[in-house]
Amino acid sequence: MAYDIASEAYARKFVNELDHKPFDRALLKRFADCVGAERPVLDLGCGPGHTTAYLTDVGLTATGVDLSPNMIAIASRMFPQSRFEVGDFFALRQESSSVAGILAFYCIVHLTSDQLVPAFTEMHRVLSDDGVLLLSFHVGTEVIHAENFLETSAVLDFTFFEPQQIEAALRTVGFDWVDVRVRAPYDTEHPSRRGYVLALKPQSAAIQKDQP
Ligand SMILES: C[S@@+](CC[C@H](N)C(=O)[O-])C[C@H]1O[C@@H](n2cnc3c(N)ncnc32)[C@H](O)[C@@H]1O
Repeated sequence: MAYDIASEAYARKFVNELDHKPFDRALLKRFADCVGAERPVLDLGCGPGHTTAYLTDVGLTATGVDLSPNMIAIASRMFPQSRFEVGDFFALRQESSSVAGILAFYCIVHLTSDQLVPAFTEMHRVLSDDGVLLLSFHVGTEVIHAENFLETSAVLDFTFFEPQQIEAALRTVGFDWVDVRVRAPYDTEHPSRRGYVLALKPQSAAIQKDQP
């Protein structure tokens, strides 16, 4: 797959990105607080594993999952304190209601809009009843076609989504309460607005609405 070709270049560019993204770090901490210390979480489409490692470092039992074996090899090498495995977020090996949280940072960016509901259905299945989902995406309506992603031979389409589209798909599969945030890009990023959605599988009162 394309990310097997681009994995080393992707890791070089993004593995330290959280150092320069205070908004993202604050949201990841909020996610961790909502989930609760030492509870099991999945980081879907984890790439080189930096967000998985961040979640491990703030006290969660985090497993990074990615379709690309090369990404998983890099993540396992760079962050031995976390668990990583090859997997497909459309068909996870985890049992139903088995994880307390799911992080999905930019892993929906290669989906078409009609793939949102199937992907969110699988996330909803593996989350426990009080489970928390945090996902991110590029905000807009365009699709960007990259012929030489990160100056490799990888070819990828990046689909932008409007927050309302994401919220509607999440509610369709049964997520109950959805908190949407949009921020401007940091100087170091591709110049697109960034969307973040925190959503709950029903029966949770864990979210503190006055946090960032
Ligand atoms: C844009 S990267 C995001 C990586 C990382 N989450 C980050 O924030 O830097 C998208 C990742 O999703 C992975 N991915 C794409 N489709 C997937 C699928 N069906 N199941 C699991 N991972 C997938 C890719 O291999 C890639 O590592």
